[in-house]
Amino acid sequence: MKQGYNIAVIRGDGIGPEVLSEGKKVLDAVSELDNFELEWIEYPHGAEHYLNTGELINEATLKELEQHCDAIYFGSIGDPRVEPGVLEQGILLTIRFYFDQYVNLRPVKLLEGVHTPLAGKGPEDIDFSVVRENTEDFYVGIGGRASGKAVKRDELEVVRNIYNVKFGLDIETDADELAYQIGVVTREGCERVMRFAFELARQSGKNKVTSVDKANVLTHGYGLWREVFEEIAKDYPDIDTGFNFVDAICMWFVKNPEWYQVIVAPNMFGDIITDLGAMIQGGLGLAPGGNINPDGVSMFEPIHGSAPKYKGKGVSNPIATIWAGAMLLDDLGEKEASEKVLDAIESVLRVGKVKTLDLGGKAKTSEVGDAIAKEVKR
Ligand code: IPM
Ligand code: MG
Repeated sequence: MKQGYNIAVIRGDGIGPEVLSEGKKVLDAVSELDNFELEWIEYPHGAEHYLNTGELINEATLKELEQHCDAIYFGSIGDPRVEPGVLEQGILLTIRFYFDQYVNLRPVKLLEGVHTPLAGKGPEDIDFSVVRENTEDFYVGIGGRASGKAVKRDELEVVRNIYNVKFGLDIETDADELAYQIGVVTREGCERVMRFAFELARQSGKNKVTSVDKANVLTHGYGLWREVFEEIAKDYPDIDTGFNFVDAICMWFVKNPEWYQVIVAPNMFGDIITDLGAMIQGGLGLAPGGNINPDGVSMFEPIHGSAPKYKGKGVSNPIATIWAGAMLLDDLGEKEASEKVLDAIESVLRVGKVKTLDLGGKAKTSEVGDAIAKEVKR
């Protein structure tokens, strides 16, 4: 009997639906070859669904995903008709937190045939992985406002699988208006993502892990981050370590990307540096990511946004999504199929005949999907 997997599909907004169609096409092609079956279960969540029903994503749906799905394949989220943050927090971050997907794994790899804006650098120079912490830091969503001579008390709470935390904050201010946002870093949260980074380095034959922080200014949160990194590093004497402040690593990404192998970063810095990473690997159209819970349900997505102005035009690059699909297969344990997809992406890029607008070509989104699906079968 064929091995079967249930994959939840959340296409989301903007170009999400069209790039996901290409991802499914390529994964279906490789599943036929490698003799497993992918059962796609479509979910409507996104701006349209929210505007029609008022629902972002509810507990019952999350439970259903948890019980029935082996992985989630996600498009992109964000729509000009909805206030910024509503869909992002209500759907994307809700899923990351609910499933405790504490690793956001983002390969930064310049494939052959792709132009990088970095002069004098090639595929041999740009090939590393960013392991972004995905549940803590300033993403915990707690904060508030106080205004005009107010005296007030805010009760704030973060609920996570591995811990809960409650804050009570007394605010007394004579500022006209004040807003604050609290970032949370825990020992448990740091340990698990850092171990993942070191294990990844070992498994992929890399010998260095670099930690990113801003421990010179945000001494509390990132001070703990750095302390834990130094402790965990002791368990991996075979792996070299380094520290970079986040501002400096932005400079080094541009100047000396070849220094990096595996990078581990707190949530917000990881978000920022991976957009820069995407550009040096040829653009957002080529940058995939996996939201991973090694013991649970993981979710794979392109790191780009919904690009509303290209919605429905069929001109967006589906490669980031197809590559995210390759990561999904790897997560399911279908290593060979995963490699086949990545090889097919590389060979289509190397030949360079079928390219979308962002890469200087004229091909449609679906033509790129077709070309990669055909290459997979070759
Ligand atoms: C990303 C995105 C998200 C993030 C947004 C859409 C919430 O920028 O996946 O990098 O900040 O994590
Ligand atoms: Mg981002």
